[in-house]
Amino acid sequence: MFYPLARKALFRLDAEHAHELTLQQLHRIGGTPLEGLIRQRLPARPVKCMGLTFKNALGLAAGLDKNGECINAFGAMGFGFVEVGTVTPRPQPGNDKPRLFRLIEAEGIINRMGFNNLGVDQLVENVKRASFNGILGINIGKNKDTPVEQGKDDYLACMEKVYPHAGYIAVNISSPNTPGLRTLQYGEALDDLLMAIKSQQKILEKRHLKYVPVAVKIAPDLSEEELVQIADSLVRHQIDGVIATNTTLDRSLVNGLKYSEEAGGLSGRPVQQRSTEVIRRLAQELQDKLPIIGVGGIDSLMAAREKIAAGATLVQIYSGFIYKGPDLVKEIVTHL
Ligand SMILES: Cc1cc2nc3c(=O)[nH]c(=O)nc-3n(C[C@H](O)[C@H](O)[C@H](O)COP(=O)(O)O)c2cc1C
Repeated sequence: MFYPLARKALFRLDAEHAHELTLQQLHRIGGTPLEGLIRQRLPARPVKCMGLTFKNALGLAAGLDKNGECINAFGAMGFGFVEVGTVTPRPQPGNDKPRLFRLIEAEGIINRMGFNNLGVDQLVENVKRASFNGILGINIGKNKDTPVEQGKDDYLACMEKVYPHAGYIAVNISSPNTPGLRTLQYGEALDDLLMAIKSQQKILEKRHLKYVPVAVKIAPDLSEEELVQIADSLVRHQIDGVIATNTTLDRSLVNGLKYSEEAGGLSGRPVQQRSTEVIRRLAQELQDKLPIIGVGGIDSLMAAREKIAAGATLVQIYSGFIYKGPDLVKEIVTHL
């Protein structure tokens, strides 16, 4: 495809500018005849997960299309599912720029975007306009200025608004760029949040007469003991799936590289191995009681196969897509 050329031009621009420009173009052509320029007709490879049938096992990871503006375009490229968000109840600008950096030699990215998004109401409007025939995941979070002790209310408010429009809901408690957010992954705070989410899901199921599965997205920077506790908590609260993993704070694999000391979460190839280890350990602990969506550094068919071999049922890409483009979607969907 044309991506190597496009990438050359885009990589000359600062990373966030390149991102905005690409999304603008994808938004513009999505749902129009120009969509043919990016369409890839890929074989169907259905996979059942969380009670849903995905047309293939590859999804777009959260954070690329935060406001759900390019769902049709990503669908046309062949993704079996697209996870939009993270969205928060109210719009917020995110952190100061610059906040997005390419670590080219390592095929990594560091971001400290901080949930810049237009708010859940705008996201719902965008989702309503989309005509994607895959599964739409909606990833929810809390506003930066909501104290973490009240974070639960933000998740419940987002759930209520997105529930009728989502194929599944992803609860993001693992972004390193919202102060305090990751504390929701531990002990009582986690139990308290999951209990509230489960009861909200039951209320919304009755109201809308449909069951929308909920998956929880976790960080790669968890100890063995913490992982075991999280797995236990997810099972006890009958959560429908777990997404592993988000970006890492660990810089050991990128020491000395340009931008490696920027604050934020590191993704791409440097997180590949760690995220696979987390998936393997989770799979041992979960014993198929709930499925794992594997994400972190998938940049080839082989890397996707490693995630599946470690115990993932579905996989997602973000950084690999930035470095490899739509060809990576084709390679993985066709051969996985
Ligand atoms: C620029 C950027 C923004 C991201 N924003 C979000 C986000 O809003 N919510 C979320 O759950 N994950 C977010 N992520 C994490 C990705 O969804 C994914 O979990 C992580 O990058 C690891 O996958 P990868 O190595 O394929 O990029 C973001 C990642 C990047 C690079």
